Amino acid sequence: MAQTDRQRWDARYRDGAYEQRAWPSAYLQQCVPLIAPTQLGVRALDIACGRGRNSLYLAQQGFAVDAVDVSSVAIAHGATRALQAGLAVNWRCQDLQVGAASWHPQGTFGLIIMFRYVASPLLPILVEHLAPGGHLLVEEHMQWAEAETLSGPSNPAFRVTSTELKQALAPCIGQLEVVEEFAGIVDEPDGSRAALARLWVRRTTEG
Ligand SMILES: C[S@@+](CC[C@H](N)C(=O)[O-])C[C@H]1O[C@@H](n2cnc3c(N)ncnc32)[C@H](O)[C@@H]1O
Repeated sequence: MAQTDRQRWDARYRDGAYEQRAWPSAYLQQCVPLIAPTQLGVRALDIACGRGRNSLYLAQQGFAVDAVDVSSVAIAHGATRALQAGLAVNWRCQDLQVGAASWHPQGTFGLIIMFRYVASPLLPILVEHLAPGGHLLVEEHMQWAEAETLSGPSNPAFRVTSTELKQALAPCIGQLEVVEEFAGIVDEPDGSRAALARLWVRRTTEG
């Protein structure tokens, strides 16, 4: 029987996946100071939060954070770290692929992030849950000719193409302002290199 995402990711996290990657995303740290002055105290949603490195960072920055992941093992690690740091995060264990069309977060958010979890069809749903003026930040490993020399998944199915994120948002692009986009090679904090696609959009209308 094929393993579900939950079984596969629980096993990976039990084996210590991403234990060393406790630092928040460099890209998120670069963007949040530009967002936070207007969004402080508002809700943020971390899609496929893993061990919660970015959820914890956002909570530290004053956001009220909802964090969703399929792996209860990853969420338990995140919840422990939050407790140790005295931070409140609203954790939710949810498979975003099973019944993805029926899954909707509750309410609207000033900031939604989806980092290193490829689920492009989810992006228009996330836009529906952006408050007017709210920001959506996406960062994915990108398909690249010499991908085997780079960090990230070896299976190209778990990497986006350079245009995929914007294409996925095409149905709602009229409600959005593109703040920044990037596709290229980045030096990671652990010394490795990654091919990344990044998209930062802001919702301009009520929808
Ligand atoms: C590469 S990790 C990225 C974690 C986190 N966003 C980060 O940047 O550290 C991918 C995450 O996607 C989650 N994931 C995989 N399939 C999922 C699904 N069907 N529904 C929800 N989360 C899923 C995994 O559990 C894992 O935590």
